[in-house]
Amino acid sequence: MLGRLNHVALAVPDLAAAAAVYRDTLGARVTAPQALPEHGVTVVFVDVGNTRIELLEPLGEASPIAAFLAKNPSGGMHHVCYEVDDIVAAHDRLKASGARVLGDGNPKIGAHGKPVLFLHPKDFFGTLVELEQA
Ligand code: CO
Repeated sequence: MLGRLNHVALAVPDLAAAAAVYRDTLGARVTAPQALPEHGVTVVFVDVGNTRIELLEPLGEASPIAAFLAKNPSGGMHHVCYEVDDIVAAHDRLKASGARVLGDGNPKIGAHGKPVLFLHPKDFFGTLVELEQA
């Protein structure tokens, strides 16, 4: 079921500042900021050749990363995203195994215009897992 690592996401308190560090200090290619109101975040992607780093900043009052940043004010690793071929089949397999799918359980459209699901970190060794249909 599990495919390639699509990205590792870091929550950051200031997206412009974090993007500048990746672009100017680390010399990476960084995409333009993209607001994702349905997910409560603004994102940029950093191209690191074999995968991407997603930098996340809260968007709106009820951002799902607000509590994370309250606990980690300077930012930190927020989730890892793996690719799957079929998000509905992945969802059904996970539910059958007892894993908790976050939200209403239905895939949402993610930053790449593809369906995504998030899985409860307590079921995956303390790491929030995103699945994206490749
Ligand atoms: Co992500």
